[in-house]
Amino acid sequence: MRATAFSPANIAFIKYWGRLNHKLFLPVSTSSSMNLSGCNATTTVDFDPKYRKDEISIIGADGKEMQVTTEGGEKNVLLFKTLDRIRHLAGINTKALVKSKLNFPLGAGIASSAAGFSAFVAAACVASGRSDIFEDKLELSREIRLAGSPSAARSVLDGFVELLTGRKHSNGYARQIAGEKHWDLVDTVAVLTPEQKKVSSSEGHILAASSPFFIARKKYLKGKDGLVRKAILGKDFKALAELSEADSINMHAIMMTSKPAIYYLSSGSMDIINEVISWRNNEKMDVFFTFDAGPNAHVVSTSKYAPEIKKRLDGNKYVDFTIANKPAKGTSIISGHLFT
Ligand code: PMV
Repeated sequence: MRATAFSPANIAFIKYWGRLNHKLFLPVSTSSSMNLSGCNATTTVDFDPKYRKDEISIIGADGKEMQVTTEGGEKNVLLFKTLDRIRHLAGINTKALVKSKLNFPLGAGIASSAAGFSAFVAAACVASGRSDIFEDKLELSREIRLAGSPSAARSVLDGFVELLTGRKHSNGYARQIAGEKHWDLVDTVAVLTPEQKKVSSSEGHILAASSPFFIARKKYLKGKDGLVRKAILGKDFKALAELSEADSINMHAIMMTSKPAIYYLSSGSMDIINEVISWRNNEKMDVFFTFDAGPNAHVVSTSKYAPEIKKRLDGNKYVDFTIANKPAKGTSIISGHLFT
């Protein structure tokens, strides 16, 4: 049986970095995010006795198709393991053909795992005959978390979403804060020309605890999820800006002080940080920055300032291209398949 899912990427305002449980992929803290309308994945999963082995490929916006192999890092291995787990849940043993299409270029350093993992797990559940898991969004988010990309679990629900955590599998699920129409925020992603080699977030989550500041971060995070929820619900831009910028820098401090250290921010990232602070302080723009595990800047503003911000970022010498994102709906099942 075949099914196709469409899912957005998301940007976290309070980030997940480090885990309570590496086997169950339970994050160390609650994280909150907004789904991105301009960065998404469409994934078709087909379970059929005609396939002799599982095959997974990813197609970038440029049309280039890349075969996923188990040599390509932990996240790739996890995709194959997830097919095994879903087959087990569905009581089937047929192999699968999986194709995933991103609407942004492959290898551009835009976090694609949130869009990719959420679309993949949703399509695999439905294609295997477990539509009930897709319908129950809490359960779907747990399955996506368990697939190995907890941040992807936040993509299942519409708009603004948080991922809860705890010691048990049942504790780690996504919950909606507000729908996609709630607040006219825009996240303009500035994709920078790559300057350095990246370390995968999977490796980073394991290294996080080696930072001498990890305990301080855990303390710092207490109550921050509630404050972000309040800022989103009350459309308090100033509060969200302060909380998000502080959290992003706090997370990068953990990255840069883990052993070995991970440096994701580049000269271009620093340039945009300084620009954004100046636009806010000197021009009174509603704008803030946040960075995931990479140098690309997410510049968040209210829609009023978004066109001017995009223009300025497009003109920045470090910026390759920009993608403007509004809050988006979560994962859905669609009728058009990527192959017949
Ligand atoms: O869910 P992962 O393993 O792709 O890790 C996500 C890590 C960050 O993007 C840096 C933070 C977050 O919460 O999205």
